[in-house]
Parts: sequence; C-alpha cells; structure tokens
Amino acid sequence: MTSFSPGAGRRVAPRSRLASDAAELDLSGTWRFLFSGRPDLAPADGAAVDLDDSGWDEIKVPSHWVLQGREEWGRPIYTNINYPFPVEPPFVPDENPTGDYRIAFDVPEERGERVLLRFDGVESLAIVTLNGTQVGVVRGSRLAQELDVTDEIRPGRNVLHVRVHQWSAATYLEDQDQWWLPGIFREVTLLFRPADGIEDVWLRADYDPATGQGVLLPELRAGASGYPITVSVPELGVETTFASPSEVAAIPVGEVAPWSADRPRRYEATVRNAAETRSLQIGFRRIEVVGHQWRVNGRKLRLRGVNRHEYDPDNGRVFDAVAVREQLLLMKRANINAIRTSHYPPHPTFFDLTDELGFWVIDECDLETHGFQRDGGWTENPTDDPRWREALLDRIERTVERDKNHPSIVSWSLGNEAGTGQNAAAMAAWVHRRDPERPVHYEPDYDGFYTDIVSRMYPPVEQMEDMAAGTGTHPHAVAGRNAELAKRPMILCEYEHAMGNGAGALAEYERVFDTLPQWHGGFIWEWRDHGLRTTTPEGTEFFGYGGDFGEEIHDGSFVCDGLLLSDGTPTPMLAEFAAVTTPVKVTIDGGSVTVENRRHDGDTTDLRFVWRDELDGRQIGTGELTVPAVAPGESITVSLPGFEPHDGELWRTVEAVTASDAEWAAAGHVVTRAQTQLAKAAPALSVPADDVTPVARDGAISFGPATFDAFSGDLVSIAGAEVKGPRLELWRAPTENDSLSSFASYVDVEAVASRGMGSKTPSSAELWRAAGLDRLHRRVQAVEVEPGRLVVRHRYAPSAAQEAVVVELIWTLRAGRLHLDASATPSRGWKGTWPRIGLHLELPAGLAEARWFGTGPDENYVDSHAAAHVGRFEAGVDELSVNYAVPQESGHRAGLRELHLPEIGLGITATPVAGELPGFSLRAHDAAEVTSAAHPHELPDSSATHLYLDVQQHGLGSRSCGPDVRPEYQLRPRAAAWSLTFDVR
Ligand code: GAL
Repeated sequence: MTSFSPGAGRRVAPRSRLASDAAELDLSGTWRFLFSGRPDLAPADGAAVDLDDSGWDEIKVPSHWVLQGREEWGRPIYTNINYPFPVEPPFVPDENPTGDYRIAFDVPEERGERVLLRFDGVESLAIVTLNGTQVGVVRGSRLAQELDVTDEIRPGRNVLHVRVHQWSAATYLEDQDQWWLPGIFREVTLLFRPADGIEDVWLRADYDPATGQGVLLPELRAGASGYPITVSVPELGVETTFASPSEVAAIPVGEVAPWSADRPRRYEATVRNAAETRSLQIGFRRIEVVGHQWRVNGRKLRLRGVNRHEYDPDNGRVFDAVAVREQLLLMKRANINAIRTSHYPPHPTFFDLTDELGFWVIDECDLETHGFQRDGGWTENPTDDPRWREALLDRIERTVERDKNHPSIVSWSLGNEAGTGQNAAAMAAWVHRRDPERPVHYEPDYDGFYTDIVSRMYPPVEQMEDMAAGTGTHPHAVAGRNAELAKRPMILCEYEHAMGNGAGALAEYERVFDTLPQWHGGFIWEWRDHGLRTTTPEGTEFFGYGGDFGEEIHDGSFVCDGLLLSDGTPTPMLAEFAAVTTPVKVTIDGGSVTVENRRHDGDTTDLRFVWRDELDGRQIGTGELTVPAVAPGESITVSLPGFEPHDGELWRTVEAVTASDAEWAAAGHVVTRAQTQLAKAAPALSVPADDVTPVARDGAISFGPATFDAFSGDLVSIAGAEVKGPRLELWRAPTENDSLSSFASYVDVEAVASRGMGSKTPSSAELWRAAGLDRLHRRVQAVEVEPGRLVVRHRYAPSAAQEAVVVELIWTLRAGRLHLDASATPSRGWKGTWPRIGLHLELPAGLAEARWFGTGPDENYVDSHAAAHVGRFEAGVDELSVNYAVPQESGHRAGLRELHLPEIGLGITATPVAGELPGFSLRAHDAAEVTSAAHPHELPDSSATHLYLDVQQHGLGSRSCGPDVRPEYQLRPRAAAWSLTFDVR
C-alpha cells in the first residue's frame, strides 16, 4: 500500500493493445465482493481457494463500488486539488476502503504456452492472487497491467482473488480534478499466449507529403523461433515476409491516402506467423515540429479541441463504447477536431474510435500531483523526488506502449499539474528515445526545458500575443526564456472554462489562433459536467457535485464545467464553439461571399452553400450558390444574387451545409453560417398618442386595456391577464464565472502569473453584493395622470447608499395599443460593474410557450453570440433557460423585436432607442429565487413567469478559471431606455 514502486510480481513489459486470434477469456461479469472500511477488517482468508464466499455480496465487474447504491460501501468523493487525506507520502489513512473481489472460472485444457492476466483499470491498487498464490500488485489506476500467471493457472476451475484498496501511495500520483472512484472499473482478461506468438507490433506508417508515398516501419517483438513473420496490407498489395529478426526492414508501399482528422483514411493490416495473427488498422501520416510549426503531413495543425474525461453520470469511469461513439459524433457536429485525454489514458478502445472518426489526440499519462502545490512550493512533490522515478517512468512507458499504433495520437503528454522536476524530464527523455516522431507535451514545463510544445492554461489573449512576440511578461517561464519559446509551437491545453453559463470571449482566442503563427489552437475545459445521478432523501433525482455525498472537504460544483450537462444535454456553448471555430469560414461582404477553407485536409465539395433572405424574419427568397471547390488553405469569393429594396428589416443568411448523409450528421447539417443585414427597419413612424386620458378610481388607474395600481403606478393587468411591474432590475443570479474568481484580474498580469486557485480580488458577485445590487429599495416618486398619458417615476437605491437609479415610465395609448417609453438614469457615484440593466415584469405563472423575432435560438451574451442569428423562433419557456448544475443567470437573448406569449394573447414589440434594442429572458423563477438555489431541484414552485427586458447585460468571461469579462464587454453603470408596445390579441 505504501510502496513507491510501480507495481510488483509477475509484471509483463508493457506492449500494444492489438487484436489477436489467440484465445482470450473476458472475466467481466458478476463477481463476489466483500467491502471493508479498513484493510485490517478485510478477511484474512479472502484469497483462500476453498473459502466459502457464498455469503459475500455480488458486484458487477467492471464498476466502481461507490456507485452501486450501497451506502455501506462508501460514497464518491470530489476534492479537486486537495488530497482527501493528510499529505504524508507514501502513507495513506487507516480508514482505507478495501474491496475483496473473487471469481471462479474454468480454463480449458488447451491454454497456450503462457497465460497472462490483464487489468485495464483498477483504482487504486490491486493485490492479485490466483489459486492461492499472490501473483502481483497492480498500480496505475488507468493504465493496463499484465501479470504472467502461467505457473498458477490450471485446467478446470480457477479462483481469482483481487484485493483493491482505494488509497495507496499511487494515489499521490493520481490527484486529478475528478471524482475519487475506487474499484475494478475496466475489464479483466485472461490471454492464452501461443508458443512463438507475436508479443508486440509497432507498425509506424510514414507518409511523405512531398511524394505521396507511404512507408511501413515495422517493429516486431517475437522470439527468433517466431519467424518468419509476414506483414500484410491487402489493399496496398503489401505482403512482406521477414525470415528472421535481423531481416525486419522498412516496407515501401507506394502511393497511399494519408490519415488526417479530416479524412481518417485507414488500411487494414495484419502481422502473422505460424502461431498467431495480429490485426490492426493503420493510418499513414507524418508528424513533425519544424520551427514553430507543428505539422502533420506537411501542414500546420490546427486544434479545435476539448478536454475529455472518462465519465458517465451513473457508471463513473466505466467505458461504454456505444455511448462514447455517440459523443464523438456529437463532437464532429460541433466542429471539434481534437481531444486531450485529460488526465490519463482512456479505455484502449477509445483510440479505435478516434482513429476511425478522425480526431487529433493528445494522449495524457495518468499523473497529477496537484495537491503538493498547496503552499505554492511543491514540497515533497513526487515529480522531483528520486524515490518516485521508477513509478513515473513506468507510467509513461505503459501509456506510450499500449497506444503507440494509433494514428490519431499526435502527441504524448506526461500528465497534468504535477509540477516540474527530474522525473518529468526523465519521462520526456524516455519518450523522445522511444518515439522521436510525436512531440512531448507537458504544460508545467513552462520553460520548455524538456518538452517540445509550449503549453499554457487560461491566459488572456494579450499574454498569448506577448508569447508569440517573444516579449512581455511571460507567466511561469523564467526571464530570458521568452524569445526561445517563441520559436516553438504553442497551444492552450486548457482554455475557456465552460462552467455554468459561459465562457465568453471565445472569438478572441480564435482570432489569435487564426493569426499568430506559433499558436495551433487549444482545448476547451471541458467536454462534460461530471455530476453523479443521485436522489434527495425524499427521492427527488438530481446530479450531485462536491459536497452532495458528505465529503469532509470538497470543491463544490467545480466538477461541473463542461460543454455538456451531466445528463449529456449540450449547453449553448457547444453551438458557440461550433460557430466560432468552424473550419470553413463564410464572410458576406456586400454583394459577395468569401468561403475560406481552413481544414487540414479536403476541399469543400462535401458542402453546399445555400442562401436565404428574410424580411422581418420571414423568408422571401432562397437559393444555392455555385462555389467552386476550395482547397485547404485557400479561399474563393463568389457573388451573391441582388435583392429588391423592401420596407422592413432584411437579413441575408448564407449557410454551408453537408451535401450528403454521413454517420456523424445527416445531409443538410449546418457547418457554418453567416448573416448580414441588407436593410434596416425604417424608423418607426411615431404614432401619435391617442387622445385618451387614464381614469383613476378606487385605488386603480385604468388606461385602455391596462390597469395600474394608483399608489405605485405598477401595471396590474393587461386585457385581464395579471401583470406586475415593471421594476428596475440590476441584479442577475450570478453565473459561476461571476461568483468564482481564480484569476485576480483580467488586466493584472502579475496576479495572473502567480495564479493559484484562490482569489486575490473579490469576484464580480461579491462586488455586486457589496454594492447592494441584490437589495434595491424602491420609492415611488410620482404617479401622475396627465392628459393622454400616465407618468410614473421610481427611485431605486440600496440601503445605506446615496447612489440611485431613477426610472421614468411614460404610458400612452397609440392607435389603441398600450405603449411604454421608459428610461433609467443613474445618479453619480456608482462604481464597478452592474450585472444588468433591465425591466422586470411578472406574468402569470405557468406560461409554457414563447415566440419571438430577435436573436436565437439559444441564449446569447455580448461576449458569446457567434451562434446566434436574427430570425423568428419559438420555444417552450422551460427551454429558454439552461438547467446548469448550479442555477444561475441564463436565457438572455439580445436584440428583441417582438415577443408573443400565445397563452395570454400578449405581444410586446420593442423599438430601438438610440439604436439599442433590449434583450429578453423569460423564466419560471426570478433572479432572487435562482440566486438562492444550489441545485435545480431546490428552486421553489413557480409563482410567476418572469420577463426581463435588459438593455444590456454584463458579459460572461471565464473567471471561474481564467480571465474576467473583457473591458469592452463589461457593463459599466449607465443610462438606458426602452420603447415597448403591448398588443393584446
Ligand atoms: C485546470 C486543471 C483541470 C481542471 C481545471 C479547472 O487547472 O488542469 O484538471 O481542474 O483547471 O476546472
């Protein structure tokens, strides 16, 4: 348990995962299981062959024992950076949950020359006993380990006992930001190895971009008596036999189609001898780092990536190939072309899928020691401690050896957030020797002393510009290193923290990636929220995060920061990502459109380019453009059809859609969209106010279809539907980017450089609360019935403050329709930012439907609106806000023209004031209710449907882990005005 060693016993040298025709026995299924809270309580005779285990529980293998709904087996734990126990390596607590697993299985008489027992994933330590003999100790939770059990296996019945401890010295190396989930969570397999079998194969498949020629560079591991060995690629007519190890040589294969993420061309290959046939799918490609260019097949790589953990809300890190395939297809639809396997090698089958479907992958070793950073000093960090050297080397060897044949892997990563030091350098040196082709990645090697790619997390774009220039303050790197680093390829291994609503400013990163030569793109943090499905004591289902399982210390909802919610529903940021990072850029410029192909490989003949014109949101023309094939790296400009002048708002949209059905998307899937406004709405003719004067009677004022409260001037009803307000709202339910602040300040480079996870300056939400924006008091200044109009003035201010905002509401009837001209004017003295400046109207509870003419379909904010376009949309009210793991601001859609609520027959038309239209959000809960709930199920029963009409909202930013809202997207205290007409139908 407390050994520094990488494992013990009959360990077999790491090797590739390859299909074979040799026999295997998958031991997945139901095993006997006995849980003990401490190792000393585990049965002393647990491994005895003749033990009667019929009284033990049962468990499915693979699985995690804390996800079986058995409270007495412990619960999942989420801590993030902290270790869940005192840090005193290599020791672990006495309370070390222990699972004893047993299975009996039959082995045939004919069982090969050697028998291996393979574990693909056990967290965190397995002591393996077969037929009463201890055969090995397996460490490295997400790494494969084979044990040679030839001497212990016997024909007929065998008894395997595996004792798993949740905590071990190895836990110190596996401190990733994710759930602690013990158990045998990947397959256990018996491999019957034939005499003279082919033990390992590495078929490097090189592609020369200059000539189009491929070469196979075989590396074969078999005994001398295992020869002759034949390498065959039928499709290329390759059938080459090597008579002995010394004859093994390169095999030129002639012209081949290369492998790329865009066109993942694979060839079936076999490597066989008299005893065994190994089969694999190969992809020809050449990876090079040439100066600051990281190239595949001669072209610079462009990574549009995500970080992906192994995760399922019910089964944790148990792999499900069908579900993962679906997720990869969803990534394809979202223009994602790269994956970093944060922060450990995934299930081996994962790479079969990325090879087949086409992704650039960074395969990351199972190593993180983040908890040693606590004091900022990395004291006792295993990465720099010779006692751990062997374990760290073993980890990278097992990573590289298992996965080395996969064309989709374009870089090896030593791990994540494990500090720097001699062991990391030794790991890199080992990789450089073993695989000189693929560059080594490891973000904490800030100075680039032993890795090939300059990698950073969450910098503001200004720092990226400085890095490319080789100047400026270069966070983390030693002074004088900047110019050297600027000669190398750069990536963001993590950026844009997709926690809750956000992150904003994706387009700014894209601009840097598109323009600065060192930058190759990055990987969003992260693909999916990791909430675990659970229930309240009353039985209400929800997705739990840190703290929901009784953890002693935890990091709350920080485990939910994905582009997808825990249940797999994409958040609007996935569409934003697709829109911003699209590899086919379409730009409309007056009468022409430019199509730029930024793909790595493949022209645009798989796409159709369709245009449509919409007048006031209604289609008046459509057609298809003839766009000649655009080669990668090229662009073409074609003209667009002319258009007739019209009365109204005229928009032209051009979409690049897929021309034919593919597994990842049906024909017609929109790869990218551009929109331009051809004609603006004519300025609204100012309809004169009707000559009707509001009537005050019995505490109420009636005015056309509306009734107002005579004291407050608030609306009470419109055409019989209950309406309350409007009230000024400056508060929004903080997003997690508003309420967390791991970066001190967007502009404070020094603070960013010394970034820890704690905050140095208060978050936006703290500042807003301190300013009292969540507790404005209102005083009615005036409710005046005048000829033809009702004038209402309200003053809003927090307690103890002199700052205030005065809202003036002028109600008139225009051609019988109720009309509001509203303005909000702040006093002097306001500081900082505001979350929003909006009017809040309470409408009847339970409204279900909305139709609007404005932007959509999804929520959009000032720093996140590339996916939004102008049009007519409809949606259920429950679809208008996103069910983020923590309830928060959601659902704002800028630029509202018309909103129609069919159930109460109410229409609201907004007219621009000084060029500004309000955005809207419509939700069953108000900002205060949303603020108070920590989980969606904690929201109270809805008492109204809340409509907010915001002239401006503060941007989103990425401050939960990254830069704050950029200055140009911040909402500074300001005046605002609304012009709204209410229609009753
Ligand atoms: C990074 C880390 C990730 C994750 C992220 C925040 O620093 O590498 O594992 O913790 O921050 O969600």
